[in-house]
Amino acid sequence: MIAWPQIVRSAPLVLLLACADAWASGWPAAGEVPGAATTAAAGGEAAAAGARIYHDGVLPSGAPMRGLVQGDIALSGQQVTCGWCHRRSGLGATEGQEVVPAVTGDILYAPLRTPTSKPPLAPVLRPPYTDATLKRAIRDGIGADGEPFDPLMPRYPLDDRQLDLLVAYLKTLNTAPDPGVDDKTIHFATIVSDGVEPARRKAFLDVLEAFFAQKNVETRNESRRAAHAPRHKAWAYEPYRKWDLHVWTLAGAPESWPAQLAAEQAERPVFAVISGLVDGPWQPVHDFCEAQALPCLFPSTDLPATAAPGFYTVYLSRGLGLEADVATRHLADEGLLDGPLVQVYRANAPRSQAPAERFAAQVRARGGDVTEIAIPAGAAPDADRWQAIAGQAAGGVLVAWLDGADLQGLWASGAAAGLRRLYLSTALYGETPGAMPAAVRERARLVHAHALPAERSRLLVRSTGWLRAKGIYAPQALREQANAFFALSLTGGALRVMRGFFVRDYLIEKLEHMTENATYTSIYERTAIAPGQRFASHGAYITRFDPAADDALIAVTDWIVPQAD
Ligand code: HEC
Repeated sequence: MIAWPQIVRSAPLVLLLACADAWASGWPAAGEVPGAATTAAAGGEAAAAGARIYHDGVLPSGAPMRGLVQGDIALSGQQVTCGWCHRRSGLGATEGQEVVPAVTGDILYAPLRTPTSKPPLAPVLRPPYTDATLKRAIRDGIGADGEPFDPLMPRYPLDDRQLDLLVAYLKTLNTAPDPGVDDKTIHFATIVSDGVEPARRKAFLDVLEAFFAQKNVETRNESRRAAHAPRHKAWAYEPYRKWDLHVWTLAGAPESWPAQLAAEQAERPVFAVISGLVDGPWQPVHDFCEAQALPCLFPSTDLPATAAPGFYTVYLSRGLGLEADVATRHLADEGLLDGPLVQVYRANAPRSQAPAERFAAQVRARGGDVTEIAIPAGAAPDADRWQAIAGQAAGGVLVAWLDGADLQGLWASGAAAGLRRLYLSTALYGETPGAMPAAVRERARLVHAHALPAERSRLLVRSTGWLRAKGIYAPQALREQANAFFALSLTGGALRVMRGFFVRDYLIEKLEHMTENATYTSIYERTAIAPGQRFASHGAYITRFDPAADDALIAVTDWIVPQAD
């Protein structure tokens, strides 16, 4: 989403900008860009300084870069950084009628032609830039053809040295395919760990395999059409490639995963990782993907890496950490943070311990206090133990990051009747009351970080139909299948609009945009990823079992989006 300075659009702009979509044939390869080789060697430092100007708007002196818009109004800040409009990849962007052209070295230093005109060669829309005309473009807003730019492109009062740095950086940007793509094939991986239960793993992988198979049938048809297309139309089909799926299976301790992933990527590089299903936190995979600049798209995980958002990993939801935040928010809204407040979790079980840690931190940040009880690995609290635990929360709130089996003792003890509220996670406890006594149900509140069951069936109509048609529908792995289908359809959609530029940064940029406009949103009611953000769904409901409706889950709050999202 780009916030634009208000401008009145002139017709020639739209025409000229349409050429940003110009077909790449005839553009020099990255190595042929004048000066590109020297940039890499002697100019590495210059390019690095140029990158700071381009992405961060910071001049070598440390001063902020200013841009002049609409008759010399000087602006600084994010919205005049080059990357804000031309994007991190340099490949530009299209937002409805607004088109920002590509500024990668290979494109700028070649003539720009329209994509659709007849052979032998399309007319030139603008001649190639030279270092001198490129510097003039940035400083004075004059194109290679001598025409002034649309006022949307700011002018930049930079000195010669600063412009040299920026130009050195633009030359390093190019549209050469990233690893994992060749003339015929695009390689993708998905990641599973050996701790995942076999039926879940199969249900998940079935979706990827069926999707790839279908995609390749379509690609064969497109390629055949391309082979018979008139030469001037070949460009329209050229981006089609066979999709090749590599299943990277991780074994052993998570600490050993990065090395296993690095070995896979070294042996058979992939362009991107689509979805994924591991037992435990996604963090080790996240770190690998960020270090390798490898897009990792919408893994099916409750435990994403949240400490520092990366660029290459995009998630569906913040998962259990989000649930902890929403639980805190609800307790605060209900005035229940004053206590007694007790939480129970399993030590050394990441899906229990992680939300518990987050919850305690959030409660304390709001000035509350929480008594924490960790169930040691291997222990199973019986009714007596639960009696003691619930006793500490009597008249107050018990928060349990546990599944139904762990709560059997609480139901048996009868102690839940003394609680004012019991908070559970649907990700851990499930969506049905199970053995929870009827008297407890009215005081139980469950955090539910996606669409409620009835709405969810409606959201999943498309994937359910497709899965059934392929004979792979597995309702017990509903979420994993829906998430995989989401990751696959968005990746397919992004590749279709990438105009044959197989650049990983560009894939991420296109996905950001697609996420917001997705018609299929997995189990979430809406998805969107703002610039700098890496989670597509941002909130949760607080729900309860409704005795009037067969104990179906109903929401007792609106969709709560906590601050952190
Ligand atoms: C607010 C959005 C915006 C920002 C910020 C911005 N540009 Fe642009 N830029 C545009 C638009 C729109 C055009 C197309 C202008 C036209 O063709 O009339 C453009 C055109 C260009 C062109 C000409 C491309 C061609 O094919 O002729 C270059 C080069 C360029 N920008 C470089 C930069 C650099 C370098 C920066 C940062 C110092 C920058 N731009 C910042 C929007 C922006």
